[in-house]
Amino acid sequence: MSKQEHIDNSKLPKHIAVIMDGNGRWAKQKGMPRIFGHKNGVKAVKEITEAAAKIGIEYLTLYAFSTENWNRPAIEVDALMRLLVETIKKEINDLNKNGIRLNAIGDISKLPPRSKTALEEAIEETKANSKMVLNLALNYSAKWEIVNAVQKIATSVQNGDLNVSNIDADYFSQQLETAGMPDPELLIRTSGEKRISNYLLWQLAYTELLFLDIYWPDFKESHLIDCIIEYQNRERRFGKTSEQLT
Ligand code: FPP
Repeated sequence: MSKQEHIDNSKLPKHIAVIMDGNGRWAKQKGMPRIFGHKNGVKAVKEITEAAAKIGIEYLTLYAFSTENWNRPAIEVDALMRLLVETIKKEINDLNKNGIRLNAIGDISKLPPRSKTALEEAIEETKANSKMVLNLALNYSAKWEIVNAVQKIATSVQNGDLNVSNIDADYFSQQLETAGMPDPELLIRTSGEKRISNYLLWQLAYTELLFLDIYWPDFKESHLIDCIIEYQNRERRFGKTSEQLT
């Protein structure tokens, strides 16, 4: 029996969100520069993306660059942006082969023009794919996303297009970057840190959180399968009692 066969396909999470943490520490441990960690992080991105699509996950959201990451040394920011362009260009064929549609969440208007163009082209070239959506969170932060949503709603009210009484949680969700997508049922963070780090704050309200003590470049398909199995063994009560669920 393969490891994947231990997954209960009737209880698959539709949406998995990931905080890919620990590239820098992984490299440091090996006496290598941080960018070596990011390059190996890209290999893990490819393996996990293709594994998630194969397993039948519908949405995979990866935290690739936060609004706070601009504060890193310029050399690292430049290297990350270059890596993004190279990876996207190199991977378009495989994304299409695996039926994966690329999407970005975050303020991509502020990315360097080459990164923005490469991203937009890849989004366009993969738009017909329907097996899985790969959301890259780029120049993303949840507080930015929420403030942005509030501004959109306030503008609609101000223009007379929206009644205050029609603003509810569902309406609010539809103003976020993840409009039209289910909230993640599972969040995985690597590297041992136990924080949410300004990621999907609204969408994670009822998400199962898994914190792993390994660095992102070491995160393999088998770890993803273990995470899904652990998620399937959790009791999700949504405020009810155990007895009410049975
Ligand atoms: C966290 O490790 C990782 C990042 C901030 C960047 C994630 C980027 C990649 C995996 C590569 C590019 C991605 C794509 C989609 C092409 P860290 O640098 O914070 O590690 P540390 O906490 O050990 O310093």
